[in-house]
Amino acid sequence: MINLQGIHKSYHMGDVTVPVLNGIDLTINAGEFVAIMGPSGSGKTTLLNLIGCLDSIDSGEYSLAGEQINTLDDKSMARIRSQHIGFVFQLFNLIPRISARRNIELPMIYANINKADRFTRTSSVLERVGLSDRATHMPTQLSGGQQQRVAIARALVNNPELLVVDEPTGSLDSKNGEEIMQLFEKLNAEGVTIVMVTHELDIAAYAQRQVHLLDGKIDQDKS
Ligand SMILES: Nc1ncnc2c1ncn2[C@@H]1O[C@H](COP(=O)(O)OP(=O)(O)OP(=O)(O)O)[C@@H](O)[C@H]1O
Ligand SMILES: [Mg+2]
Repeated sequence: MINLQGIHKSYHMGDVTVPVLNGIDLTINAGEFVAIMGPSGSGKTTLLNLIGCLDSIDSGEYSLAGEQINTLDDKSMARIRSQHIGFVFQLFNLIPRISARRNIELPMIYANINKADRFTRTSSVLERVGLSDRATHMPTQLSGGQQQRVAIARALVNNPELLVVDEPTGSLDSKNGEEIMQLFEKLNAEGVTIVMVTHELDIAAYAQRQVHLLDGKIDQDKS
């Protein structure tokens, strides 16, 4: 599903070039659950953003779900994101003054799904993440773990084959963190491919494969 070959990525700040990824080769098959690990600053989020088509590659080849990504313009990248990818972040990134249901509906509004279908699909993903009884709650009326479930429901609503997840338990206590990881295990068992960044070993252990970055390269790849 994901094939990266010879990926290089640098950031430019004025005259200074900061090389971050220095030749990444990585293949991830449909149905895998992969953790990306490595020290702070090793390029985990940078790599995840490239995989999630949130940022452009300097050089190298990237194909996702049979499409060549490295040659696409921003508009085509946006289409790929909305068709194939769901995103989950450490800080949930929910919109504060609208309900859980409205937060979950947003990606479907961008995808031009009609109101009746939006309602049905929102109910279905709320059930999938175990939050049917919290649909009308505002984010501030939910616990951290529940807010992350709403964010996961929102990520699932366009039925993505791929979930791209950055430090999903970083803002949660260990009990809520475990529950979120069990939810990812369940979604993976249902067929969703998951690529997750974490620096925590016990969180990475939920994945079947651990890829370690060091100095912008893959240092270890263990299943
Ligand atoms: N937008 C940016 N502009 C300039 N430099 C950046 C930018 N984003 C990241 N960097 C630099 O790229 C390097 C890799 O950053 P990245 O966020 O990918 O690391 P990370 O492995 O996710 O770290 P952490 O575990 O702390 O989240 C860092 O040295 C960082 O300072
Ligand atoms: Mg990071």
